Amino acid sequence: MANPGVNDPIEPVNTGRRRFLTMTTAVVGAVGAGVAAVPFIKSWNPSARAKLAGAPVIADIGALQEGQRLIFEWRGQPIWIVKRSKAVLEALPTLNDQLRDPMSENPEQQPPYIKGVTRSLKPEISVLVGLCTHLGCSPEMKAEIRPEPFDPNWKGGYFCPCHKSKFDMAGRVFEGVPAPTNLIVPPHHYENDTTIVIGVDPQGAA
Ligand code: FES
Repeated sequence: MANPGVNDPIEPVNTGRRRFLTMTTAVVGAVGAGVAAVPFIKSWNPSARAKLAGAPVIADIGALQEGQRLIFEWRGQPIWIVKRSKAVLEALPTLNDQLRDPMSENPEQQPPYIKGVTRSLKPEISVLVGLCTHLGCSPEMKAEIRPEPFDPNWKGGYFCPCHKSKFDMAGRVFEGVPAPTNLIVPPHHYENDTTIVIGVDPQGAA
């Protein structure tokens, strides 16, 4: 019987789509003390056909709190937007020697204007395609810095239960797991402080 957590290679996005389609207009994955409310987001939602064709998605992150994640759909993929805490950001460089591509040097995994340790345009805001680079499962967000069964020194990140791949809070993959590369960062830019356009590079970017 097929593993329900792994996408059928013939239909590489459908399983993941089913999982997140119902969540595209809600904040999910609130983590951490003091984060009680689960606000709804406002987003411009083009038609399903336009989205599959690659139309950009406008993400309003005005209500996004530290430790929370917004999920949007772009080109049939889940796009995660996460607001990272100062503690999580400070932990990122301490993980470098445990990672395959700590400085984001594989050009396939992010646009050229996304560099280095944070893999983001603004340090606190991470934008990722939420699909494991092994076989396309949607990893679980484990954003808190605390011991986890799969890593007693966990500094926050994403854990893929399908085959136990681990990524940090920048989507950087750990050594020694099945996933070969960092999570993908999609093209995006800020229209203003609280609006991200997913699918369009910043003006002037290559
Ligand atoms: S799909 Fe295999 S570890 Fe994520």
